[in-house]
Amino acid sequence: MSSDLQLSLFDNNQSATFQTDSIPANAKIPIPPGTYQNMEQIGEHCNRCHRCELGNSRTHAVIGRGNPQASILIVGEAPGQNEDETGLPFVGRSGKLLDKILESVGLSAETDVFIANVIKCRPPNNRPPTAKEIEACKPYLLEQIRILDPKIILLTGATALKGLLSDKRPISKIRGQWIEWENRLCMPIFHPSYLLRNPSREPETPKWFMWQDMQAIKAKLDELKEQL
Ligand code: URA
Repeated sequence: MSSDLQLSLFDNNQSATFQTDSIPANAKIPIPPGTYQNMEQIGEHCNRCHRCELGNSRTHAVIGRGNPQASILIVGEAPGQNEDETGLPFVGRSGKLLDKILESVGLSAETDVFIANVIKCRPPNNRPPTAKEIEACKPYLLEQIRILDPKIILLTGATALKGLLSDKRPISKIRGQWIEWENRLCMPIFHPSYLLRNPSREPETPKWFMWQDMQAIKAKLDELKEQL
């Protein structure tokens, strides 16, 4: 055996050898759980993905930002223009609001959460993603969840709720409720862009409900940390 080959047997830097050429371009071909070891591999794959038409128009696939070790995963809808340009989720106006909402209960967007989206590429003119696009992209989200192993998943808005849990109920009816899924606690919450359109802080308004939900989320996180 050549010494190079012998050395490569001990090389556990999986990203360096990860083959993205094998990406199934047909969305009907599944991407099995365990395909990826880390977010970088998912990112590499998504940036070459053509499982739906959005692969033709993206600048960057948007995988996530935040702390991959965090207990909370926040799932949004889809990248917008700022996200497509930067490759980072929630960096526009609704992202700024999301960061402020987290800060209001003492959580940091950098250290206490990981933020991702149901679909990784920007739909033209920011239209909502289609069911076909969501299905084509779902294996990436499921792999993110497997790798991150979050205890709590916050689903911002109806697309995230429908995309992950196939739950079609209106967000206004079930926001703030804990839903157990795959041994994790999920909570549907309002999407920050909805709060931008509804700025009142009066009782029983969307912003007021968001404040109640965030306090419940923080209390649950503290409770889970005490159990560790
Ligand atoms: N930016 C994102 O990345 N996702 C959203 O859902 C909205 C804005």
